[in-house]
Amino acid sequence: MLTGKHVLLIIGGGIAAFKSLDLIRRLRERGAVVTPVLTKAGEAFVTPLSVSALAGTKVYGDLFDLTDEAEMGHIQLSRVADLIVVAPATADLMAKMAQGHANDLASTLLLATDTPVLIAPAMNVRMWQHPATQRNRATLAQDGVTSVGPGEGDMACGEYGPGRMAEPLEIVAAIERHLSTGPLNGKRVLVTSGPTHEPIDPVRYIANRSSGAQGTAIGTALAALGADVVFITGPADVPPPAQAKVVRVTTAEEMRCAVMAALPVDAAIFAAAVADWRLKEASGRKLKKSKEGLPKLDLAENPDILRDVANLSENRPDLVVGFAAETDDVVAHATAKRVRKGCDWIVANDVSEASGVMGGTDNTVTLIDDAGAEDWPTLSKTDVATRLAARIAAALSKA
Ligand code: CTP
Repeated sequence: MLTGKHVLLIIGGGIAAFKSLDLIRRLRERGAVVTPVLTKAGEAFVTPLSVSALAGTKVYGDLFDLTDEAEMGHIQLSRVADLIVVAPATADLMAKMAQGHANDLASTLLLATDTPVLIAPAMNVRMWQHPATQRNRATLAQDGVTSVGPGEGDMACGEYGPGRMAEPLEIVAAIERHLSTGPLNGKRVLVTSGPTHEPIDPVRYIANRSSGAQGTAIGTALAALGADVVFITGPADVPPPAQAKVVRVTTAEEMRCAVMAALPVDAAIFAAAVADWRLKEASGRKLKKSKEGLPKLDLAENPDILRDVANLSENRPDLVVGFAAETDDVVAHATAKRVRKGCDWIVANDVSEASGVMGGTDNTVTLIDDAGAEDWPTLSKTDVATRLAARIAAALSKA
């Protein structure tokens, strides 16, 4: 929640400005007070009236507006906020900020303030990749400006690549992280989630029944405590947490690469149901039925990502948590698994068909650490995640 927090929102002139209207709505839903500043270029994309209606307050636009200056001077306007958010942060606005220009209200506020600034860049992919923009980005980062996005995708200009403004909920999450006083504030936590798919041929794959629900609940609970969550997910049914940095993968090998690239982190939670095997060599063409008999599927073992991370000599997270999906002798198997893999905790759960865990909403887990096994009651996956996140926060505060 952002109850009583004051956000000064500078809306730059880009097609993504329309998303800022939704951003205002989301911020107000969470109890924030939003003071909007619309640049001249921004007015070409959204009207002051719609911004004002959604923010429930007046819109500031002109540096030399006498009424505005009489009510609240621009210097004061820049100081009352808990956070200044620039969304969309256009290439031009970023350049002005990096150079210290002050030739309109937005740039003047940004120069006059000592309040933290968060930018959500949005521009054409070539503009984003241009050395000038990248220089400006580096300068702004050095100046302590944080950024969220840009994301990759189809752009309004018909091109594809990085430059798309982060979605409103991602920006809200970044704002919450900034303003959060949660116990995981400043901690970076990695979560793996979902199944992996191991190709057999272009149309078939080896997989498992994981929906990704428990992983998403864990990512959401960690972010709610202020953690910066890197969420590495296979092809899951349940969408990833809106508040996390999401990395989508398909195979175990891709998941392993993404995990290693995300290090260092303070804690790593391995909730993914990684396929243990892949085909030694997936076929490039669809396998056909043949009179010679059944196709021979030659299997190879996948890398054990949890074990590899738990045994790192450099960059090992302070806390490594694995899951143990078992169908029988749950605690005995999971206790042995903790030692075999070298992780700190194992969250053991019964995934036999009778338990209904795979694809269901509830989970009955046992938390195993070096002190022994602690049975938790049957809880919703959300409640398991909330409880686990609180335990992780307590453990990291001692680390
Ligand atoms: N895991 C992993 N990489 C793998 C396999 C599993 O990171 N290649 C992680 C899972 O995310 C989970 C833990 O290891 O946190 C245990 O997964 P599980 O499937 O229960 O165990 P397995 O390693 O497959 O062991 P077994 O086949 O003996 O059950």
